[in-house]
Amino acid sequence: MTKVSKIWARQILDSRGWPTVEAVCQLDTGHVAVASVPGGTSTGAYEAVEVRDNDSSHFHGKGVLKAVASVNDVLGPGLWGYDVTDQAKIDARLNELDGTKNKSKYGANAILAVSVACLKAASLAASQPLYRWVNGLAARIGLNAQIKVPSPLLNMINGGLHGAGNLDFQEFHLIPASSKAFSEALRCGVEVYMTLGEDLKRRGAIHSVGDEGGYAPNLFTNADALEVLYEAIRATNYQIGRDVFLGLDVAASVFYKNGEYTIRDKSAPLRDNDLLEYYKYINSQYHLALLEDPFHEDAWDSWKSLFTSFEGQLTVVGDDLLATNSERVAQAIREKACNGILVKPNQAGTVSETLSVVKMARDANWKVITSHRSGETNDWFIADFAVGIGSDYVKFGAPARGERVVKYNRLLSIEAELAMGPR
Ligand code: PGA
Ligand code: ZN
Repeated sequence: MTKVSKIWARQILDSRGWPTVEAVCQLDTGHVAVASVPGGTSTGAYEAVEVRDNDSSHFHGKGVLKAVASVNDVLGPGLWGYDVTDQAKIDARLNELDGTKNKSKYGANAILAVSVACLKAASLAASQPLYRWVNGLAARIGLNAQIKVPSPLLNMINGGLHGAGNLDFQEFHLIPASSKAFSEALRCGVEVYMTLGEDLKRRGAIHSVGDEGGYAPNLFTNADALEVLYEAIRATNYQIGRDVFLGLDVAASVFYKNGEYTIRDKSAPLRDNDLLEYYKYINSQYHLALLEDPFHEDAWDSWKSLFTSFEGQLTVVGDDLLATNSERVAQAIREKACNGILVKPNQAGTVSETLSVVKMARDANWKVITSHRSGETNDWFIADFAVGIGSDYVKFGAPARGERVVKYNRLLSIEAELAMGPR
């Protein structure tokens, strides 16, 4: 048995410059592993809760010293002597210490940092690559996943809360055909990204990049953003509908208010039904392969009608709707609200809970997409996690900015390792 000998934490910064938690797990074998957690900007109401200091004199209230202290004083000591290879027991202990349903006492940021630090330490002690260790843990709960490098969903244009303020939809994705090897899919993404950047400059749509590295251009409507992306692809050698596809993360909860959605494509606010009609129009023009969070997170009836309308045509993905939460996923399966899940470990709060949500999604034959958050660190854990659980896709942002690229690069290295075969 390999035991936890010490766990501690510190406050570091994420890619937005916001404080976040980094935890360290040391074993009695001497192995040491470090893990840091991301944070969302367009967070869903049903996510496990992040604890922040709310002390306006420090980091505008965004500090995480309370969460760090919870690791140092309670969660870490509470795991002393635990068998690090028993992830389920470690995570159950973390939940027991917290005692709340949504992890609001010590915070999902504190709890996940510890959970992942233990996971990494266990894989080191077992001398296994992290993705293999994750794969083994998944098998323990009956989630038998084939180890493979997933296809990337690349964020080309950032709007919503991640952009420059003039687009309502949050993410405009390029989706290389899943028949491509990961490295080829990534190259394709980079080439379109480069072409798009040149195109935006030429159009005078002055651009910077948003939180996830996609361009944040000056455009008039959300449909314009799709059009610009469409045109950029046509300027490359890639063919839309064969080599690449388009997708959207609308993150509709952000522009929903009092029963209406306000988007600049339309002069008047839209009711759910009008928005559905608009999606149908957009799909007729751009043949979307994937549509995430098309309605706000409590609009179950609208999700159901959209799913029925688009069934067989595209993957309908729940992010804010599901919040990587087993109860929400069970409801969505029952009500046939979607057929894809965005898996964000920090929405669930522990490795084990994330794995059981993935198992539920797989049992329902859903597509599984492992995702970053808008505020990321250079931790590449989710790349290994995605491979270990046999994700169909990864959503790690644009192929730009260090905290995004570090995860794509980790997938390149796993791809090379898998190609070499067992050594
Ligand atoms: P978030 O955005 O990390 O700001 O929540 C990511 C997403 O909505 O997929
Ligand atoms: Zn989303």
